[in-house]
Amino acid sequence: MITLTNLVKRYGAFTAVDGISLDVPPGELHGFLGPNGAGKSTTFRMVAGLLKPTSGQVLVNGADMATEPEAAKASLGFIPDRPFIYEKLTAGEFLRFHGGLYGLEGEEAAGRVREMLALFELSAWEHQLVESFSHGMKQRLVMGAAFLHRPRAVLVDEPMVGLDPRGAQLIKAVFRRMTERGVAILMSTHTLEVAEEMCDRVSIVLKGRIIAQGTVEQLRERSGDRHEQLTPLFLKLTGGSGLQEIDEAVA
Ligand SMILES: Nc1ncnc2c1ncn2[C@@H]1O[C@H](COP(=O)(O)OP(=O)(O)O)[C@@H](O)[C@H]1O
Ligand SMILES: [Mg+2]
Repeated sequence: MITLTNLVKRYGAFTAVDGISLDVPPGELHGFLGPNGAGKSTTFRMVAGLLKPTSGQVLVNGADMATEPEAAKASLGFIPDRPFIYEKLTAGEFLRFHGGLYGLEGEEAAGRVREMLALFELSAWEHQLVESFSHGMKQRLVMGAAFLHRPRAVLVDEPMVGLDPRGAQLIKAVFRRMTERGVAILMSTHTLEVAEEMCDRVSIVLKGRIIAQGTVEQLRERSGDRHEQLTPLFLKLTGGSGLQEIDEAVA
């Protein structure tokens, strides 16, 4: 479970996150949807405990990130949009290193590392240096590292960017299985198709605020046309560039 209350982040006079409140209950895959610069990654860095909020509260499975950061982080898996990977480690070394950060040791660690390599289809690359991996392989490795300690809440920033269809299918299946087991997942995306296909509920974020929230079906109803595609609705809500601007730019 992830609970955000009035989360704010200011940089000088600029407000990147402007009072976000959100509840992701166990078993829900919640989409955090918005254009570039909306404040998604800034919000995620605060939820992960990497960035101190200007004000507001982050609870991860009931633990307050400000006052009980170790408890909060122990049950959270975070997959950032641009993860840092030590390229000179092998896949197996990378996972064992991460296991150590979560206190996994000995046979338990070795078993979990094998499970993650198998789940993310990297077993054959266990002894290869990460520097030789494709983008998709690195992404799968980073997910394996984030899931080693069986987090009950998962934060994942733009996971579908640059994945091949097979990688995308695998990750969708893994997320679905995790939510079936009661894991709460908060996933950011700027792709409506991803949100529509994967998310139980979505929050549409613009200029650091949630401007709409609900199931995709509810958002469609809100737009007044049950059959309207989400993309025009999203552009309407966020004021994104419409065909008119594109026409003007290329004409
Ligand atoms: N360290 C920082 N200092 C100043 N402005 C920042 C900083 N980090 C992010 N921002 C600004 O905050 C806004 C939100 O950024 P971000 O959270 O990365 O958006 P998103 O992930 O939705 O694309 C952007 O306008 C960005 O330029
Ligand atoms: Mg971002």
